[in-house]
Amino acid sequence: MALNITIVGSADRQIEELLRSQGTRIRSMPVAELLALAQPGAAQPDVVVLDVRESGALPPTIVTLKRQHPATGVVIVAARMDPVLMVEAMRAGVNEWLAEPVTAGDISAAIERVTSVKPTTVHGQIFAFIGAKGGVGTTTIAVNVATALAHAAEDERTLLMDFHLSYGDAAVFLGAEPRFSVADAMENTHRLDEAFFESLVVRSKTTGVHLLASAERAVGAMDLRRIATLLQFAATHYRYTLLDVPRSEVAVLDALEGVASIMIVANQELATVRNAGRIAGTLRQRYGKDRVKIVVSRFDKQAEIGVDDVERVVGSPVKYTVPSDYRTALNALNKGRPVALDRDSKLTSAFQAMAFDLAGMRMEKTAEAPRSGGLFGLLRK
Ligand SMILES: Nc1ncnc2c1ncn2[C@@H]1O[C@H](COP(=O)(O)OP(=O)(O)OP(=O)(O)O)[C@@H](O)[C@H]1O
Ligand SMILES: [Mg+2]
Repeated sequence: MALNITIVGSADRQIEELLRSQGTRIRSMPVAELLALAQPGAAQPDVVVLDVRESGALPPTIVTLKRQHPATGVVIVAARMDPVLMVEAMRAGVNEWLAEPVTAGDISAAIERVTSVKPTTVHGQIFAFIGAKGGVGTTTIAVNVATALAHAAEDERTLLMDFHLSYGDAAVFLGAEPRFSVADAMENTHRLDEAFFESLVVRSKTTGVHLLASAERAVGAMDLRRIATLLQFAATHYRYTLLDVPRSEVAVLDALEGVASIMIVANQELATVRNAGRIAGTLRQRYGKDRVKIVVSRFDKQAEIGVDDVERVVGSPVKYTVPSDYRTALNALNKGRPVALDRDSKLTSAFQAMAFDLAGMRMEKTAEAPRSGGLFGLLRK
């Protein structure tokens, strides 16, 4: 069967001519259309040939494309071998790099290799949690959902990244004592590999969650590119990555392209709901409405502002509610043992349900009493 090939970003017809002779179905598009191709439901060609001979740069959307469609082969045609760009491409999951002069033989061999190799990396999912206001319970939710996922997924790894600048609380919540932080990762994105990253994260003994803790000092280089590199790295090495993001951290909010779900955490206070509306509006515009979800923390059924009101003001459905239970939440915080590890609390069930739903996992009820794993024992993927 003829291969479907999409050429992206070519200013001339040279690549098209080289491919024409090979019985392939060819489509050409400008780089700007790559974003549409990268959308989760977009029909994929067998191979994308990305022409960067003129631009000399990788469009960030190629990262999104490979994340959403790891099976789509990507061949880059460049003016030359550029080690920096090649590493970036490799991290993005690009399969082949061809430098000029490119012959029909080179390109067909590259396409042959790309289409015969099945992707080996399982790409993980990233979930971001952003508080519409300080103190609403964002870290509590991020930590507990991470804990629930780490348990549910057993040997698959779960990472939590605390993007707060100094005084991030995730380490305290997880009873962990980190030595390094997001700052160290961010300043060393050029040398990110598994061993180096392992040395930066701390594994919480109580929960099994890996934590890249908040920076206790100013982060020198919190730019979009480095954050994107870090997130991409996390997604290729962890099944689940959760981000605790302050709403003031604009660079991080700009780098959520590869994130599966963006949760805005609000409560039932008017000021918070209004803030949530503003943040949600911006993020919906940027990342699409389906990815932006609202969580109501410390939910009180009797409160004057109900779920309907929140939805109306924010303009997105309330996807999850977390019941209010200050004593349990505080106790867990003081012990450094997340509520998600407990049993029989409404808070625990809410966090577990949220984790399963986000991860697309299904809970099967059985007549048997759950074993020590509680609900986790009933989990089927
Ligand atoms: N569902 C809940 N019910 C009752 N209290 C809660 C709940 N979730 C969190 N809390 C309490 O609210 C306080 C703030 O929680 P948390 O630190 O998670 O909020 P935050 O939004 O991350 O705050 P910050 O803006 O400081 O990062 C803590 O004392 C916590 O125990
Ligand atoms: Mg917090």
